[in-house]
Amino acid sequence: MTRAIAIALLLLGCADAETVTALVPRAPATQRERLRDDARLVLEANCGQCHIHDYDTALPRALAVFDLSELEWSAHMSDVQLIDAAGRVAGRRGPDGPLEIDDDDVARVRVFVDEEIALRQSQGPS
Ligand code: HEC
Repeated sequence: MTRAIAIALLLLGCADAETVTALVPRAPATQRERLRDDARLVLEANCGQCHIHDYDTALPRALAVFDLSELEWSAHMSDVQLIDAAGRVAGRRGPDGPLEIDDDDVARVRVFVDEEIALRQSQGPS
């Protein structure tokens, strides 16, 4: 179904907004979204205990830096904090001790952090 037909159905009252949203093809995930979500999966597994607000073990001060339950989990992080996060993953060390993280997962976080910082720089000072 094309977007135009879906919107026509909505206007004619033949479909509610929810149905139309479900019918309209979603834009494919951008490269950045894929990298963001890939990095999030690695962080969820290793850092989620404190950095996901749904968990009882979550810590307010950790959530204030980043909350992995937010889609744009890195939005409030400074460049330094992003680099710090990638460094902790690469160092395979969390606050509670050593972490088992393989090289691919280290790279997933590193690539997102590099891309994100490059994107911020290309957008100029905010
Ligand atoms: C046991 C809880 C816990 C775990 C697990 C945890 N963090 Fe955190 N993290 C915190 C807390 C609490 C803070 C807030 C700063 C502070 O009080 O030290 C924080 C802050 C941070 C900061 C910001 C530091 C700064 O000075 O701005 C980064 C980056 C970070 N964490 C990355 C990670 C990464 C990456 C992992 C997983 C490899 C991780 N954390 C796992 C509790 C945790």
